[in-house]
Amino acid sequence: MASLKHLLGIAGLNPVTVTALLDLAESYVLLNRSGKTQRDSLRGRTLINLFFEDSTRTRTSFELAGRRLGADVVNMSVATSSVTKGETLLDTAATLNAMNCDLLVVRHNRSGAPALLAEKVSAAVINAGDGTHEHPTQALLDALTIRRHKGRISGLTVAICGDIAHSRVARSNILLLTMMGNFVRLIGPPTLLPGSIGINGVEIFHSMEEGLKGADIVMALRLQKERMSSGLVPSSREFFAYYGLDRKKLSYAKPDALVMHPGPMNRGVEIDSDIADDDARSLIKEQVEMGVAVRMAVLDTLARSSEV
Ligand code: NCD
Repeated sequence: MASLKHLLGIAGLNPVTVTALLDLAESYVLLNRSGKTQRDSLRGRTLINLFFEDSTRTRTSFELAGRRLGADVVNMSVATSSVTKGETLLDTAATLNAMNCDLLVVRHNRSGAPALLAEKVSAAVINAGDGTHEHPTQALLDALTIRRHKGRISGLTVAICGDIAHSRVARSNILLLTMMGNFVRLIGPPTLLPGSIGINGVEIFHSMEEGLKGADIVMALRLQKERMSSGLVPSSREFFAYYGLDRKKLSYAKPDALVMHPGPMNRGVEIDSDIADDDARSLIKEQVEMGVAVRMAVLDTLARSSEV
């Protein structure tokens, strides 16, 4: 695999790199399940989790991934850090450099913040979600989950439903899935969809019935109220009626279609509990498990690239 200095987005990766990361992650799934979790490929390396936005699963899984590879992991809580005292992102970068951090995992509400840090720090930077821009490890873990169940990550029809406009998860998934040769359908109300996408293989629908037809995978997204400037949806109840994934709407997709959601879920808004908790159709718990394996693969790959 070509050496990878940072992971700032799916943009910039190619199918060979994506496949190599998924293959490595697959070996970590087996290792994690065997219970022999401790490895030492990151022994002596320091990983800092720098989260300017809330996160449960992403931060925890980076932490677990780092520890399972033997790294020293530090969680920098932004609420108690100098950032709240007015320190700029670049001052933060200088501080991190002085601490000789090797791997820096960054989540920020501004698109582009991890890229800016990557220019200024000596560490390998991993984007753990920046504004509405990208969330590359989420797209990789989604791809791994899909590949394990469908046996491939090409030639599939993947429907992504709901709040596309505010979703970095959607953006990274669109880039990865189209790059690997899948068909992507974006389904949502016009207020929550970008005007145009301009990417081959992506179609836009406003009706779940039309958009879900023939889908192999149905991905529901959280309604990101915190990123909405004004009321873009009339009410949660109305949103659920038109776009909430329930058993009836899922029946429009292929009979063996599987359901995904990056979490956190708004049950009864974008997804019905009946579907979310149905282990025969829902891959949501497995997505969390794959998150640890994919992040191990990313950390390991970046750490090895920085050795050369
Ligand atoms: C997503 C995120 O933060 O972008 N969550 C996650 O990483 N699991 C999606 C969301 O917040 O809805």
